[in-house]
Amino acid sequence: MSSIQTLRAIEILDSRGRPTLEVSCELAGGACASAQVPSGASTGKAEAVELRDGDASRHAGLGCRRAVSSVTGPIASALCGRELETQAAVDEMLIAVDGTADKSRLGANAILGVSIAAARAVAVERGVPFYEHLSEMIGESPRALPRLTINLFSGGRHAGGQVPIQDVLLVPASATTIDDGLAMVCAVYKAAAELIHSKYSVRLLTADEGGLAPPFAGVEAMLDDTVAAITAAGLRPGDDMGIAMDVAASHFYDGSRYFISTEPSTADDMIGQVSRWVRDYPIVSVEDPLAEDDWEHWPMIHAALGERALTVGDDLLCTNPARIRRAIETKSCNTLLLKVNQIGTLSEAAEALALARAANWHVTISARSGETEDCWLADLAVGWGADQIKVGSVTQSERLSKYNRLLAIEAATRLPVVDWPRAAVP
Ligand code: PGA
Ligand code: ZN
Repeated sequence: MSSIQTLRAIEILDSRGRPTLEVSCELAGGACASAQVPSGASTGKAEAVELRDGDASRHAGLGCRRAVSSVTGPIASALCGRELETQAAVDEMLIAVDGTADKSRLGANAILGVSIAAARAVAVERGVPFYEHLSEMIGESPRALPRLTINLFSGGRHAGGQVPIQDVLLVPASATTIDDGLAMVCAVYKAAAELIHSKYSVRLLTADEGGLAPPFAGVEAMLDDTVAAITAAGLRPGDDMGIAMDVAASHFYDGSRYFISTEPSTADDMIGQVSRWVRDYPIVSVEDPLAEDDWEHWPMIHAALGERALTVGDDLLCTNPARIRRAIETKSCNTLLLKVNQIGTLSEAAEALALARAANWHVTISARSGETEDCWLADLAVGWGADQIKVGSVTQSERLSKYNRLLAIEAATRLPVVDWPRAAVP
């Protein structure tokens, strides 16, 4: 790559109306690209830290002007004009300039924006699609498209907490293309919207990621309505359309008890409860069924789910290599939920990916609840060979930009959608 000539950044708004930033990178050879940065709501404790202004008089303290200054000040001074041959060299420099373990000095949001904008500029310079460049970064070439996992119903932090769990997602199991998978999901979403309108007499109130969020009586009602909507759309629950759940259990855990129903639950109760859901519904994947610090019980829930459903670590792992190693050693889960902004740079996320792959885990590449219209996540999921992609629902443009990019990649490459569920994972 030619050296970085100019780095620019501006504050923009994310899909929740909160500030984030867009970073532009121009290389000495003239290639130029930008990247917009997402942001989570159900953030794990071990996540890299975003830099926010803290000025209560503007955007409730969430402004990103200081993060913008990190890019145009210290980061630009350190990177511009330097011979940085690889993405690893760019990212190492970013980590060194920040100097903290959690990226809190310059901000994980500023650092991620530069990491991705620089990678994209190199793809432009090389004249290759971004997914291809990302694939070469990890020494591979794109072989398949990710299986879609798409929000239908939401609760938890994404929907004002009317039910404790965060998301129920659709997995178009029988679809062999992204195109067909999206058509199937749209049919179920429409059926679900009609169902909840007649059942709960509510308008189509949607949660942060576009999931429908009626006042369910409980989690079982949420799952029953999911199955009813799949059937109403003329599809077979399980065979055509599986269900994935994000329990996001860290957010109803007080350090020893889980507040998932009227009475507090123990970890053993949770394991029993989640196992019953997986037994009674066509659930193929369960994310964060226990809290991020409940390391003691994760191996038990993973063993209980066995091969019936994937055990997915989001808050548990935080895309953090040290936490992933621990989870592999303790057999705590078998699927990495990869969010690049949890760790902060592409190179560190690639290390997380490599660890998960070496352990024969599945990998789901995920967006955040606060998203932008930027579509780089779709390229990442294809380039890094993700088994699943998790972006949110099908009604909001910050989600659709990723689905539409996948459709464009599918049309250009004719790559197949990855088989799933594939053979047993440990
Ligand atoms: P977040 O949630 O972006 O609000 O952290 C997404 C998820 O938990 O998968
Ligand atoms: Zn999650």
